[in-house]
Amino acid sequence: MSQRFDLILKGGICVNHNGIGEADVGIKNGKIAALGSLSADDGASVMDVTGLHVLPGVIDPQVHFREPGLEHKEDFASGTAAAALGGVTALLEMPNTNPNTVTTADLADKCRRAKDRAWTDMAFFIGGSMENVEQLGDLEREPATPGVKVFMGSSTGNLLVEDDTTLAQILTQGNRRVTFHCEDEPRLKERFRLVKDGAHVNQHPVWRDVESAVKATTRILKLAKGAKRRIHVLHVTTGEEMEILKGYKDIATVEATPQHLTLTAEAYDRIGSRAQMNPPIREARHREALWKAVNEGIVDCIGSDHAPHTIEEKAQDYPKSPAGMPGVQTLVPIMLNHVNEGRLSLERMVDLTSAGPARVYSIANKGRMAVGYDADFTIVDLKRQQTIEDKWIVSKCGWTPYDGMKVTGWPNTTILRGNVIMHDGGLIDTPIGTAVKFLETL
Ligand code: DOR
Repeated sequence: MSQRFDLILKGGICVNHNGIGEADVGIKNGKIAALGSLSADDGASVMDVTGLHVLPGVIDPQVHFREPGLEHKEDFASGTAAAALGGVTALLEMPNTNPNTVTTADLADKCRRAKDRAWTDMAFFIGGSMENVEQLGDLEREPATPGVKVFMGSSTGNLLVEDDTTLAQILTQGNRRVTFHCEDEPRLKERFRLVKDGAHVNQHPVWRDVESAVKATTRILKLAKGAKRRIHVLHVTTGEEMEILKGYKDIATVEATPQHLTLTAEAYDRIGSRAQMNPPIREARHREALWKAVNEGIVDCIGSDHAPHTIEEKAQDYPKSPAGMPGVQTLVPIMLNHVNEGRLSLERMVDLTSAGPARVYSIANKGRMAVGYDADFTIVDLKRQQTIEDKWIVSKCGWTPYDGMKVTGWPNTTILRGNVIMHDGGLIDTPIGTAVKFLETL
């Protein structure tokens, strides 16, 4: 007789809608089939997770994996391997590759490339641009996309929409939530004179200042309100934006990154251009304001903005050094360390790293540890002390801004749809990642 469960996770402490408590998890056909006290006899296999915390699979809703076109920095195999080792089970990938992901064919190409090479489940954003604005309503209906992402300020690559007319037009195409990188391009252009002839990288937040972020966020909130369109504001970095965003919780969801919650402007002097990203790491008062916003519930999700560049590229003199830092492998340990240091509860972390992304993007069957949902789990050792080091990083870039940082809390096992894909620092079997599904395009 076939067994009731394919796998039982036995003796762990589950963190879900019930709070934190001991419960076994029964898995059948890749789905959660039971939660509670289960007999080991009912499992074809049983994993003893005594002493570990079982979280719903962590979803990283902002990664840049560089394929196609920039595979020397990252590709789907290396980026998703980093994710799985870091305890992440699903990813939403950004469109600023080469070519940009701006057509149905570009999206299909990414799906094809990820097949049999992605360790985690994935979906791919469509880049909104002047050229494809009229097709966005159709493009957002494609499977395997969380929708449209728009750069309002230029960053890595050439995707950019800087004028209100085009932004307003984008907001009239389609229905799904539209995602924005908010930095005001006209202001960035005007202020580039401050660094263009060379400057210390610590001038990055002076060039891309608070007002650049506030201006763009304010512009898009007003346009979205006028268009009655849901939006998502990526990687918010200033206390001023949080004050504004709390007045728009009907239409706008908010992301913060682990790095903006961890690093401050002193990092430029300590680690140089490794701390350079857009929007910038800022002075400590903003980090404190972001934590306040996390704890007030203004922040809906955490995204790593994993944006790898090679050490050689980063070694160029500022401002030629490219902006972006890796983060998909360190998201879970960094956030667990914040839990251990008392900055947020483990329940709130799960709300931000699993339930949050699922709610923001209406992801089907993920983000919640409940019967009927995908059996995706991030199993963590909350007490394990570990030093994050460059040599642990399997991203092609091979470095992390946290090199040398001691943390408490570490991913132990990653389970994707009932399959163990990472255990104790090693990847298991072969990549089985598939497309993330969304409620609006099932
Ligand atoms: O610093 C950044 N790097 N910010 C972005 O928005 C893009 C990213 C990249 O792709 O390198």
